[in-house]
Amino acid sequence: MTTIESHVERLRSRLLRQGTVPGVASEPRARASAVRVAPEHYDFAHFPEMRQYERTCWYYENQGFQWNMYREHAGVASAEVEIDGRRVLNFSSYNYLDLSDDVRVCEAAKRAIDVYGTSAGAGRIIRGEVPLFGAFERELAETLGVEDAVMGVSGWGVNAGAIGFLARKQDLILYDELVHNSMLIGARIGGARRFAFPHNDYDALEQLLAEHRKQYERVLILTEGVFGMDGDIPDVPRMIEIKRRYRALLMVDEAHSMGVIGPRGLGVVDYFGIDGADIDIHFSTLSKSFSTIGGYVAGSRALVTMLKHYASGIGLYIAAPNPANAAAALAALRIMRAEPERARRVVANADYLREQAVAAGLDIGPSHGSAVVPIMQPDSETAMWMSARLFDAGVFAFPMIFPVVPRDGARLRFFLSTAHTREQIDRTVALLVQLKASAPAPKGLI
Ligand SMILES: Cc1ncc(COP(=O)(O)O)c(C=O)c1O
Repeated sequence: MTTIESHVERLRSRLLRQGTVPGVASEPRARASAVRVAPEHYDFAHFPEMRQYERTCWYYENQGFQWNMYREHAGVASAEVEIDGRRVLNFSSYNYLDLSDDVRVCEAAKRAIDVYGTSAGAGRIIRGEVPLFGAFERELAETLGVEDAVMGVSGWGVNAGAIGFLARKQDLILYDELVHNSMLIGARIGGARRFAFPHNDYDALEQLLAEHRKQYERVLILTEGVFGMDGDIPDVPRMIEIKRRYRALLMVDEAHSMGVIGPRGLGVVDYFGIDGADIDIHFSTLSKSFSTIGGYVAGSRALVTMLKHYASGIGLYIAAPNPANAAAALAALRIMRAEPERARRVVANADYLREQAVAAGLDIGPSHGSAVVPIMQPDSETAMWMSARLFDAGVFAFPMIFPVVPRDGARLRFFLSTAHTREQIDRTVALLVQLKASAPAPKGLI
């Protein structure tokens, strides 16, 4: 056999083993396989995660309620939404300012589609700039009191991409234990050393800085403007004071605070009356108050320039956002600035739910001042049961259970919007009280 023939033969046998030789029926894997491998390592149906999903479905169906997270919704997710053909009260959408069907936002997005079509066609560096991106970024930077901003395709991706780019092996990340998954995954990307500090424990943060600051080059401190699961607001001015002393960089995830907290609803800068430049890295998703999809980072010109040119998932290795997303975000930003009463209304609605819930003996955790209100439950099973029974009674509030929250932190999470009414909130609290009284005793199984 010539060298070429033996090479072709080796290739053919390899492809045969993989069952990928064109025109040749693949051999049964068991016979073709040279090694014995347990099916849970190559067959998705046997993956432990799939088995766990099936066991969970089986368990809940036997308890008499569905484990179906992909129920069909119709129309806009506002204070009410249609699910499986039923109109229900909706507390599971973060359409805080109720702008996702606002005629000004919709018209702006439609106009952008008329001009640019439904896709930017390539990454921003490659295709050149759609002016709408810059228009949104400039107006956002001005709103936050910083030099510049960059928007990207998804909140999750921009958050993870920015952190992954900024923190390398020789750097340190100190993060509040409750920050969002996009921050946690971003923190892993660059291989930086990571330590969590207990939720809102600034003494613990300072202790970590005192102990470790000197061994690292850059130090990133990560927190949220409003914590998405608990609805509480950290002491950002205190964190600014600490990060200054240690020459660290503070990043605040404003997914649940931008558009909501502060006298004008413009997030932590507005709420605490601080300078935009006091926070090194402003992040938010565009999927909540901005009523579209995408994410941004805002801060100094140097920060934004680096992210635009070098950060994977923001400027590199990713397509540009849809121009219609930038148009919708810009229209939403202008409404936010022109109509601060929207922010006041959503927080007033949440305050009303908090007051009524506490008066009725329900546990709202540490929630305050924001549009996120958890109603704590003794365990995951009770949270699931409560959510299912609420849904039967026409109220949609999603259960948050382990691993999204700690095992002992099961809850129903309520997102309020400007569109909710007092009557809807009263009805919901009355139902919660009634259901709490009739809930089966917690079994503590999950
Ligand atoms: C705190 C926080 N950060 C980041 C994100 C990611 O944003 P998106 O879902 O728009 O990608 C979310 C999404 O829910 C969030 O709650």
